[in-house]
Amino acid sequence: MTEAEARAQIEQLTNTLNYHNDLYYKHNKPEISDYAFDQLLKQLEELEAQFPTLRLPNSPTQRVGSDLDNDFPQVKHRYPMLSLANTYSAEEIQDFDKRAKKNIGWHEEASLAYLCELKFDGVSISLIYENGLLVRAITRGDGVQGDDVTANVKTIRSIPLQIQAADFPPLFEVRGEIFMPNAVFEALNKQMEDEGKETYANPRNTTSGSLKLKKSTEVAKRHLDCYLYYLLGENLPFATHEASLKALERWGFQVSPTYRLCNSLTEVMDYIAHWEKGRFELPLETDGVVIKVNDFALQQELGFTAKSPRWAIAYKYKAESAATLLEGITYQVGRTGAITPVAELKPVQLAGTTVKRASLHNADEIERIGLRLGDTVWVEKGGEIIPKITGFDQSKRPTDSQPFQYITHCPACQTALVRNAGEAQHYCPNERLCPPQIMGRLAHFAHKKAMNINNLGEETIRLLYEQGLVLTPADLYDLKKEQLDFFYKDTQKKKDDRLKVDNLLNGIEASKQMPFEKVLFALGIRFVGETVAKKLAAHFQNIDRLREATVEELTGIDEIGERIAQSLVAYFADEEQIAQLQRLQAAGLQFITDTPTQTLESDTLAGKTFVISGVFTNISREELKDKIEANGGKVQSGVSSKTNYLVAGENMGPAKLEKAQKLGVVVLSESQFFALLQTEKPSPNLSAQQGNLF
Ligand code: IVH
Repeated sequence: MTEAEARAQIEQLTNTLNYHNDLYYKHNKPEISDYAFDQLLKQLEELEAQFPTLRLPNSPTQRVGSDLDNDFPQVKHRYPMLSLANTYSAEEIQDFDKRAKKNIGWHEEASLAYLCELKFDGVSISLIYENGLLVRAITRGDGVQGDDVTANVKTIRSIPLQIQAADFPPLFEVRGEIFMPNAVFEALNKQMEDEGKETYANPRNTTSGSLKLKKSTEVAKRHLDCYLYYLLGENLPFATHEASLKALERWGFQVSPTYRLCNSLTEVMDYIAHWEKGRFELPLETDGVVIKVNDFALQQELGFTAKSPRWAIAYKYKAESAATLLEGITYQVGRTGAITPVAELKPVQLAGTTVKRASLHNADEIERIGLRLGDTVWVEKGGEIIPKITGFDQSKRPTDSQPFQYITHCPACQTALVRNAGEAQHYCPNERLCPPQIMGRLAHFAHKKAMNINNLGEETIRLLYEQGLVLTPADLYDLKKEQLDFFYKDTQKKKDDRLKVDNLLNGIEASKQMPFEKVLFALGIRFVGETVAKKLAAHFQNIDRLREATVEELTGIDEIGERIAQSLVAYFADEEQIAQLQRLQAAGLQFITDTPTQTLESDTLAGKTFVISGVFTNISREELKDKIEANGGKVQSGVSSKTNYLVAGENMGPAKLEKAQKLGVVVLSESQFFALLQTEKPSPNLSAQQGNLF
């Protein structure tokens, strides 16, 4: 290769890798697999090694990706957070072992002890403990400094806030991986689907997004978890990595029980082989194995390169893939009318399970891959739970195959589909009469998190619908026992079925006591999920007030955006919906809340607007926000001409401070804020009053 060719290739690889790095770290939307990324990186590394003078200053080989987020104060790491050298091959593990032994002057035949762990696919975190107290949690960021996400991390129940053991050092740092368990991820996506929202791509990205949520209360609802795997500090009393992991366990940290001490390279290879399939039984995603020299003295001798330790290497499993026939494409119609195409595959074994179907997401995805019926497709299941189609084998395409035509009409009711500008999904607009939409809405209404109607599962809903008895939630409350005779079709099971009918009717009756916020969620108004329903119920207290609310009024409420507001206004402008609501109300459902709005501590801060920045000693940011609101003040996220006070903690961003000073905003320290609170006497309770029913 000539120097000119190398220059062009280096430039191209650098740009491509930086582009993918940004997608991965900043936008949480990777477009290529880890494997593909690592292969490109390797190519660049090799070229740079061959032509060292051509390395560009922004070369991705010189830095770890950045996940910095400006909304969180940035903190410098006491010890840089490095990455690990990656490999996909057994030979490279052998080379690593040879190199390590050579570096410490050991004989080639000697056996080094390695502590093997799984490589957890989450978001790395550094936790700092002072005198046994968790004082700070920092993301990797660019490896040198990261985001202070302490308040959010404190919501993770398995992370001790205070160590209860006796033998911990006064100052130490522990690193690990925050993750969203697969079961939590699946439940969250189901909920997103129910609410007609776009689902999340995978647990790792969802974890990363969750950690950066502005409100730690919202983070708490994400049920994140954490495994710890690396203890750092000065003069720690442990000789091996294994001993430090055992200490972490003793101190109450969650260490994955999957680690193993391997006394030879053969044992390391056994460990790798064992977990290649076994990892799919674990509650979280893993994408490889991390092999670490166990002895701390040897680790120290080996040291670090600029990017990674010389005492550890990551072996990454290749995403498993299999080729199979695309036999057909079917379509699912959701409760909101959204159409999801599904690939029907000739059953194939993949990563320990039989795969028969794979989601194709939307029409664009089919077009992007360029699929045709009869193609031999590649199905991949990496760490992911849901298999995906990554491509097809051009050489096996039948000569007579035709470009794929996406459906134009609803597969259930034959109505012409619509696709709104800017949306990837097609919709069936026949809300009222399309059977899967009707049944989907009923299932949502009866769901555990909504009206929680016992014995009203999908099968019963289908039977009630097919008998023409129930089309809308209001119809449920008109059901009579005599109408349900058709349940007793099987004489053998007559007694059971009679019991089922009684239970169903009792369940429907009991649902009349469900609180207003649940009713509001159960109505299935688009974009009104559980949290939004709670917020609206607390704010408006009854359906009358909510019904009269304008878009402006609605968007004035914290966390209610334009899209939700428009959807609510459209819902209440629909006469059929109003007729439904009136029937539900007549049946005795709760359309008024009996919990009063939050009682204010005082109105000392009424009319004052605050911005909070940095970290505080005696109060978390979240608590500080609650305190301001409980005393009548408002909290904004950015400094503007409307800001009265900036409450400044440690490590606040200089830009915010500068802007505040320019605009003449009063800057308060934590103690000055509390002094301000004391300046006026608290006034008596201020609570909202309730309105009438419509
Ligand atoms: S040890 C000096 N152990 O992999 C590096 N890392 O590619 C020490 N990771 O940033 C890291 N599981 O986020 C280590 N058992 C494990 C791991 C692990 C996942 C992540 C970690 C790190 C990245 C490096």
